[in-house]
Amino acid sequence: MRIFKDADEMQRWSMEQRISGNTIGFVPTMGYLHNGHLSLIEEARAECDLVVVSVFVNPAQFGPKEDFGSYPRDARGDLEMCEGAGVAAVFMPTLDAMYAKDASVGVNETSLSLGLCGTSRPGHFRGVCTVVAKLLNIIQPQVMVLGQKDYQQAAVLTRMIRDLNFPVELKIAPIMREPDGLAMSSRNIYLTKEQRSQALAIGAALTKAHDCFYAGESSADEIKRQMRAELQENALDIDYVEIVNGLELRPVQSVEMGNVALIAAFCGKTRLIDNCIL
Ligand code: PAJ
Repeated sequence: MRIFKDADEMQRWSMEQRISGNTIGFVPTMGYLHNGHLSLIEEARAECDLVVVSVFVNPAQFGPKEDFGSYPRDARGDLEMCEGAGVAAVFMPTLDAMYAKDASVGVNETSLSLGLCGTSRPGHFRGVCTVVAKLLNIIQPQVMVLGQKDYQQAAVLTRMIRDLNFPVELKIAPIMREPDGLAMSSRNIYLTKEQRSQALAIGAALTKAHDCFYAGESSADEIKRQMRAELQENALDIDYVEIVNGLELRPVQSVEMGNVALIAAFCGKTRLIDNCIL
């Protein structure tokens, strides 16, 4: 497995691979890899000859009061996991290798990124779009695999790829969960034992939304009321509870099949997100 820290070297390798006729599947990550990330790697492997994983905790997508400094990092563990999963190359740039000191160009998505996480994390999606645009230019994959876990991120990046004509096909992989239903996340490591069991209310609230909808309830207000009640009973601090249409992420009044129920909630200081396609 090759490990690249330098963007030019990574780009040269990718170009050589493509000239030799190999297809590249790309999985962007911020590291501290778990089985959710692994499922994306497997999906990329099924689609392409070679898989490239990037591991980069991107400061541009964290707000000033967010957890950039304390975000969990484990380079050695990540490399071992990639090696075990048959990854061909890992791109692990330093901060300086990714951003020039006077970098002044970024990618702004101005519609889908405004609501939901964009409301409580201003600047977050500009950071995500900019880094992913850079990674696509460096790695030049034919396929990029993202997780449904970050539903809004996947929607925003789908829009970026369409609007800026990136020559890459996007695949969205399902949410991987712990046996008790908690969506896997690098941030779960922050949770105390007590918070860990409180956090189960997020998955439970989504299950409630699903069950409610399939029992015939179509009022978004009523479904959201029940979701909030589930979260509040477990003392979670709600950032948002929303039901939106799948493509434009516009909140709906009357719920239809294919709409998405989304939750962001704080468990102590840890902000967790999860969603369910109805
Ligand atoms: P990160 O949070 O490390 O997630 C990397 C990818 O793994 C994302 O596409 C995310 O949706 C997916 N993922 C996370 N948890 C998952 C789970 N439980 N099941 C399935 N997939 C899961 O998302 C980012 O990093 C960054 O914003 C990034 C796109 C790398 C840009 O910096």
